[in-house]
Amino acid sequence: MTTSVIDELKTMTVYRETSVGWDEKSLANETVNEDGDYFINRPGFAAGDPRSPKRRIYEDPEVKNLRDYLQEHTGIKGLEICSPDEIDRARRIFFRDGFVVVRDLLDSEQLERFREGCARVLKEILSVPGKAGRKYMTETNRLPHRYSYGTSSASRQLLHDSVWASMIDLPTTTPLLKAIFGSSDYLVGGAGGDLCLPGAIEYQRLHSDLADSLKLTEGRLAQAEALGIELRKDEDTGELDLPTRRLIAEHTPPVVTINFVMSDLTWENGPIRQIPGTHASQQNPPTPKEEPEWMRLSTLVGASAGAGVFRDNRAWHGATPNVGHEVRALPNVEYLAPWSGGPDMAKTMPHEVWETLSAHAQHLCRHVKAEPGVWPAGAGVMHPLAAGRARAKQSAK
Ligand SMILES: [Fe+2]
Repeated sequence: MTTSVIDELKTMTVYRETSVGWDEKSLANETVNEDGDYFINRPGFAAGDPRSPKRRIYEDPEVKNLRDYLQEHTGIKGLEICSPDEIDRARRIFFRDGFVVVRDLLDSEQLERFREGCARVLKEILSVPGKAGRKYMTETNRLPHRYSYGTSSASRQLLHDSVWASMIDLPTTTPLLKAIFGSSDYLVGGAGGDLCLPGAIEYQRLHSDLADSLKLTEGRLAQAEALGIELRKDEDTGELDLPTRRLIAEHTPPVVTINFVMSDLTWENGPIRQIPGTHASQQNPPTPKEEPEWMRLSTLVGASAGAGVFRDNRAWHGATPNVGHEVRALPNVEYLAPWSGGPDMAKTMPHEVWETLSAHAQHLCRHVKAEPGVWPAGAGVMHPLAAGRARAKQSAK
């Protein structure tokens, strides 16, 4: 790292203006493979944005145009934001849209703790220097200036980090999670979240985090019944009728994630975009080239620091350009339906961390907890490159 990068990282936060980011040596739409070799417009998850400005420079005229455009247009009009005690309303919106924004999930102490954790871990990620004069190493298979706290961790999760672990069971989040899953027996699958640096000028492609087999297992049917869905049968076949099966699909997400908001989401700092009503869609989201304007503008502007987005991970979503001077971090905790996980899940939470949790959080983490004295392989090593993470995990064995 150069001394200027080191100095910038020293004072970086995830909620105030920073000089971190805006690396003009990182070309538009470039990504890296597992070893850090560069590709431009690589197909797949790091697909390029055909409308992106060509130069990653704050004052560039194309960037300025994009900034003016976003200021004028981005943000879901009439975005509904619930308070934590509006359980029924939040649950209804969540099942309707595939996501819901809830304000004031974190008190000031929790927000401060999460902000510090996010800055600390981000500094570790950015401390790996880029190649050929770039300020930072791009994360494998992501566009420049976009990182995931989860995938950058050599254990794939941050459940070993006491800050992330402390957000699993909050008085503001647990009642809504219980209402969504219809029981107290859901699971924690992991924790991480995504972030972008100032100067992430490209749209991340729309995607769904997982494909749903839609298998109506016994556990899934039990969850549907607990949610009050009447299991109606087709008179001719004796099977569940199609409207019922569709209703079950819409109401039983295999995975629900809470992304916590560290700085107010604005038109400028790369708010996440969510496409309402796509959580049970069997179609693929549009490619960057095909994506219509209204989807690119379907962002959660207005969610404020301390709020969170409860999202069905099947719903189409993606990150948007950060054309300002603030890091936009959305750390998360990921929850699974009781039927969606089990004893085979990766044990990424050390026993010593698990011991510090509430009784309910301990129950939720029952399948991700390591045995006493066993440190999860790779936990504690952050690296933007898949090869760097694989090395860390291997040497831990
Ligand atoms: Fe995603």
